[in-house]
Amino acid sequence: MLGSSWSDSLATIALFKQMVCGHLQTGTRLAEQTWNFPDRFDSPGIDQLQRRQTEEIYSLLDKLVIFQTTKQDSSGLRPAQVSSVDPSCPLWSGLRSKMSLVDSVLDEQGATMKQGVDTTKMFVDNDHVKNYAKYRTRYSEDVFKYIVDYCKETRPDLDLCVDVGCGSGQSTTGFAKYFKKVVGVDISEAQISQAPKDIPNVEFKVAPAEQLPFLESNSVDLWTCAQAFNYMPEKETFAEADRVLKPGGTMVILGYLTLSGQEELINTELYKIIAKILPYWPKETKSIFNKFKDVTLPYPGWTRNDTLVNPHRMSLEELVGVFSSFYSVLAYQQDHPEEHFLEQIETSLRDAHRQVFGQQEEIVFDLTWETFLLIGRKPLQ
Ligand SMILES: C[S@@+](CC[C@H](N)C(=O)[O-])C[C@H]1O[C@@H](n2cnc3c(N)ncnc32)[C@H](O)[C@@H]1O
Repeated sequence: MLGSSWSDSLATIALFKQMVCGHLQTGTRLAEQTWNFPDRFDSPGIDQLQRRQTEEIYSLLDKLVIFQTTKQDSSGLRPAQVSSVDPSCPLWSGLRSKMSLVDSVLDEQGATMKQGVDTTKMFVDNDHVKNYAKYRTRYSEDVFKYIVDYCKETRPDLDLCVDVGCGSGQSTTGFAKYFKKVVGVDISEAQISQAPKDIPNVEFKVAPAEQLPFLESNSVDLWTCAQAFNYMPEKETFAEADRVLKPGGTMVILGYLTLSGQEELINTELYKIIAKILPYWPKETKSIFNKFKDVTLPYPGWTRNDTLVNPHRMSLEELVGVFSSFYSVLAYQQDHPEEHFLEQIETSLRDAHRQVFGQQEEIVFDLTWETFLLIGRKPLQ
């Protein structure tokens, strides 16, 4: 696709940019294109302008990541699938590591993330944890099944599962039907106070993931951490997980990121809300925004799966409720009490829905969380 000269390369970039912008504005498809950028953009000889151009493309690509789960068509292609860029291309991987999704969105607003937040105290406000328990996204059965099937390959007994950073049990309870016993662990007493108490084989404990003295060494078949690993000290958390896991036991780090549906207008509204609250996420918890790409499980042969999805049909109230469960929304509200932010969110989503579907008695959104996991197992010996 590219010629050998710099001007050819820059012309390709310009064309690519045009197409990406075109997609963002019109929703036209990009998926069948293969773009091969030259690796020499990364060479030490490149000048400021060339570097800026590549970074610009990269930030555009990151915007596409936000939209990539929209409009999956019958051929299974998504219109702006970023994998249409050859992932083995050194420039692509070079650029990816330079600027993340979160950086490009922040960059756009000239904002930075909050710093110095105590990540162990983010989920302690009573109203917040109630909203969390009521509205926060659960995981699809496919996700639980995928993890349990992997675990069964080496530990078919399925005696014990521990879910650290369990919140009020959003992931914990989903494992209950597969395991003889499930223990949910969270550092926040407030979160645990909202967890269900009526599932006979599920128990909840207030504790940090780094210290699980109530679990014997080599006793756990599955150690999971859903949407929470970015709050934990990596080394100590892994060390404790390794202590409690049986040989052949499974370790899973699970997460979800972009929420989108089939309608660009609604996606754009969701994107605007996320962009607004992004600076209120503590920088310390940032690793989730690149889907834990910088995290390495401590076991050989571990793998990641970025193709899982978690579809949800939500009423307007439920969708606004999901936002009310975000720490960043709480922090935004604390900084802007005059704005009535949740009401603003409700109004903007209602308007977007009306623009797409017209006046409806029931406002329902069909949305999907892009879901990902890292999975591996403790060696058998
Ligand atoms: C975003 S919530 C995830 C909750 C739940 N797993 C889910 O999927 O919705 C993150 C949780 O991690 C907990 N947490 C933060 N640091 C922790 C630590 N060091 N050990 C255990 N839990 C921790 C927080 O209290 C919070 O409930």
